[in-house]
Amino acid sequence: MPVSEAKNMRPSKTAELVAAARAEHLRNALSPIFEDHLAISMCGPFWRTVLSSRLLSRIVNDGLLRNVRPIVPVILTRARFGEECVEAAIRNGLEQYVIVGAGHETFAMRRTDLMKRLDVYELDLAPTQELKLRRMREAGIGKPDGVRYVQCDLNAESLHEVLDRAGFDEKRPAMFSWFGVTYYLEIDAIRATLAGIATRMAPGSTVLFDYLADPAWIPAGSQSLYQRCANFVARRGEPWLSSFNPTELPGILADLGYEDIENIEPDRVGERYSSQHPDLDYPPIMGLCRASTSTKSP
Ligand SMILES: C[S@@+](CC[C@H](N)C(=O)[O-])C[C@H]1O[C@@H](n2cnc3c(N)ncnc32)[C@H](O)[C@@H]1O
Repeated sequence: MPVSEAKNMRPSKTAELVAAARAEHLRNALSPIFEDHLAISMCGPFWRTVLSSRLLSRIVNDGLLRNVRPIVPVILTRARFGEECVEAAIRNGLEQYVIVGAGHETFAMRRTDLMKRLDVYELDLAPTQELKLRRMREAGIGKPDGVRYVQCDLNAESLHEVLDRAGFDEKRPAMFSWFGVTYYLEIDAIRATLAGIATRMAPGSTVLFDYLADPAWIPAGSQSLYQRCANFVARRGEPWLSSFNPTELPGILADLGYEDIENIEPDRVGERYSSQHPDLDYPPIMGLCRASTSTKSP
């Protein structure tokens, strides 16, 4: 069965885990690197029950999540990095923000301070997006003004086609947040999406994403974590399908038409936040990237 069909059958389990990780972090971290007070509302009954009890949290952390817990700083750090980038872009006049594979992301409900002049497009597979909207209703959270929820499968449809039917304005620059998704897509789908942003979107558009490093690049000390995480997501029906050599990524992006590229290689991400969050133990498995096209028309 094609991956896209398999994914369409049920809501994303990894999106649910991201919400639980954010909620747990806010509850227990001494100095949170990312504060998502709505993440708990995006969790299902299982995680809400677990997170309501220190004992249950410990049992689940030491049992179900024991093998993959070291990956949690990746989830939190990419959220922090993304929100820093979007805040800076809004200060510079950004008006369109596209969250690709939004999962249970709460940006539009949580950052009402940034929503005044912003159109937000949340793109996701139908089952995950429907579940998110249901959770919002159950929590009494209304759909925020300025947000369009767009159901799509990016293995089957191009980003441009999806946005076209959603009323997105390709003539105005946009920021595309694409966290927690690339490694679940085939490499050709990633390249097509990056190329589409570079060539079809307005000059000065930016894409933010995280990426899995090629297994051969990952240091020996993190190989076992890599394998455990790969097995964990594959068992939940969302296998990792692609990765990049971090040192080659800027060249790939430049070839696709990007000019301003910030590539934080997996072994450098931790140090970016370590002075404020010395206990953050970021595993060198996933890198972070911000890439913008020239502000001048070609
Ligand atoms: C791990 S979650 C990431 C959620 C959030 N963006 C974050 O930063 O944590 C992955 C999301 O990608 C979505 N996704 C996976 N494959 C997709 C596809 N082919 N088309 C659209 N969305 C997809 C899933 O439904 C899920 O919501």
